[in-house]
Amino acid sequence: MKVLAISGSPRPQGNTRLLLETALKVLEGHGIATEYLSLHDKDIRPCLACMKCAKDKNRCAQEDDFMPVFETMTASDGLIVGSPVYFGSATPNLMALLNRAGFVARMGDNHFARKVGSPIVVARRAGVNFTYAQLQLWFCISGMFVPGSSYWPIAYGLNPGEAANDAEGLKTITDLADNIAWLLKKLAK
Ligand SMILES: Cc1cc2nc3c(=O)[nH]c(=O)nc-3n(C[C@H](O)[C@H](O)[C@H](O)COP(=O)(O)O)c2cc1C
Repeated sequence: MKVLAISGSPRPQGNTRLLLETALKVLEGHGIATEYLSLHDKDIRPCLACMKCAKDKNRCAQEDDFMPVFETMTASDGLIVGSPVYFGSATPNLMALLNRAGFVARMGDNHFARKVGSPIVVARRAGVNFTYAQLQLWFCISGMFVPGSSYWPIAYGLNPGEAANDAEGLKTITDLADNIAWLLKKLAK
């Protein structure tokens, strides 16, 4: 059983990483294998709407870093995506991946259905709930199970590391990861 966490932040050592690693540590405590992947050094371009995935099945025709990331996503039982809020939205880095992964899966073997996962969102001040909802739409249209937490899984911080000062945010992420582990184990029975 493995959970993959993907950071959509262009900052490799930023708050998104801190929060995702908090969740992964909790999952590891439950005996679940984890993998962390950051999009900051990946060349993943927006969907071209070329519709080649409808014919080719389970692959995108664009030759960039998408396919290895997609294959890592489909090989995982759980998926957490993390994004900073950029002008009230998820980052374009993350949305480019999710648009393409979602479409290739829908045109192919519906890989994400009945997997477990959740977004995690961080911001300086505003836009967290919109961005959480934006990302949750992707999980829901993909047929995934999205557990809740003790609050929405969001935290606050501007500069790298500042989210570590948000005790309630960290507690919410910890509770989310506990619920993801619980649900994964129930589904595996
Ligand atoms: C282009 C850009 C747009 C941003 N827009 C928002 C915003 O709309 N609301 C907000 O509260 N913070 C905003 N921020 C701040 C980031 O969300 C915040 O610094 C976050 O902690 C960054 O996460 P990271 O360290 O993982 O990159 C923005 C930052 C950048 C660079």
